[in-house]
Amino acid sequence: MSVLRPEIVAELNDSYTRFVESVRFREGEDFYRHDFPVLELSYNENPLGPGKLAQDVLRRHVEFAHRYPPLGYTILIDELARRLALGAENVVVTAGSVTAIYLAVSQWADPGDEVVFSKSSIPWYRWSTLANKSVPVPVPLKNDMGHDLGGLAARVNDRTKVVIISNPHNPTGQYLPEEELRAFHARLPENVLLIVDQAYYEYQTRQEDVLLRLVTQVPNLMLTRTFSKIHGLAGLRVGYGIANADVIKGIRAHWLAFMPAIASVSAYAAQHALLDEGHLKESIRFNKCVKEAMYRLTASAGLMCLESEANFVAVNIKDSRVNEELFHQNGLAFTPGYFFGYPEWARISFDRREDEMLAKLSRTFAQIQGGCIG
Ligand SMILES: Cc1ncc(COP(=O)(O)O)c(C=O)c1O
Repeated sequence: MSVLRPEIVAELNDSYTRFVESVRFREGEDFYRHDFPVLELSYNENPLGPGKLAQDVLRRHVEFAHRYPPLGYTILIDELARRLALGAENVVVTAGSVTAIYLAVSQWADPGDEVVFSKSSIPWYRWSTLANKSVPVPVPLKNDMGHDLGGLAARVNDRTKVVIISNPHNPTGQYLPEEELRAFHARLPENVLLIVDQAYYEYQTRQEDVLLRLVTQVPNLMLTRTFSKIHGLAGLRVGYGIANADVIKGIRAHWLAFMPAIASVSAYAAQHALLDEGHLKESIRFNKCVKEAMYRLTASAGLMCLESEANFVAVNIKDSRVNEELFHQNGLAFTPGYFFGYPEWARISFDRREDEMLAKLSRTFAQIQGGCIG
């Protein structure tokens, strides 16, 4: 069958409508002010924003907006390859890392083939799979909210073509040692692509790079990373895939159809963001500091908070459908767990107005524990 079935079109359009509605308040110009009254803790962005080097290059390129982008994105790809100690043939840049994931699913899975990932994963894994006419296979997390590698492996069969694992995982922030993912990958047939989504790689306390060293040696592994998180450039839409040259060629074959999807300013800003060591250090410092404050706050409120290797935390708020309203009343936007299939949890990222954020969260947590809604 060559068209998306009506029920899939309906599901994707429903998701679109709900998603657009949930971010409606971000569409007004007022959102782009540092004193916006709602603290936005929903999207795991870098609350410090882009670094100075990226901002400078953005300003410089404004007056050249009439020029088409440099189609090879060579400066950015070469800089990435140099830092990864790989060749340019091992890197593809895309309009956000979710595009790399979609293109990989398109290249590896036929209609009717299966794509396996953990339940609770970002919705793009499901959306990419459905848009490709393939079949999503969500696997529940373990009781400790970790990826169930045994469960994921058990769902791999002759129809499986892609497995996607985020590490650290969004929404839990939990990190799997890369040796475990290497062992998981070793058990996969070569016609199954393992995508390890490393959107929060730079925030990890330790970069193991076991998988990075493996990519050129195996035909079926891709890592994805992004400029949307620590680099503070989510609005510019730049991500990248890292893989063996043949995997990259397969992805680029699809990419060509909507090239150039990355704006010139985005590509230059991304390249300069890589050079901005000071901004990266400050972002890590700020994140560590606020995360520790969040651990203390949740502990003193008597709420369970998972240890996170990313720039957000998952907190057990008992019932996110009931307690969502308390966050809103206190001027906080966040991601309720019912959105990702675990309704007792909340995913909370951080704001640069740290004291105000902690005070509002403290009040919200006390109200949750006191059971007072309304
Ligand atoms: C695990 C994970 N992957 C990918 C993304 C999106 O990345 P990008 O903006 O590069 O498309 C997110 C954003 O929240 C994420 O949490």
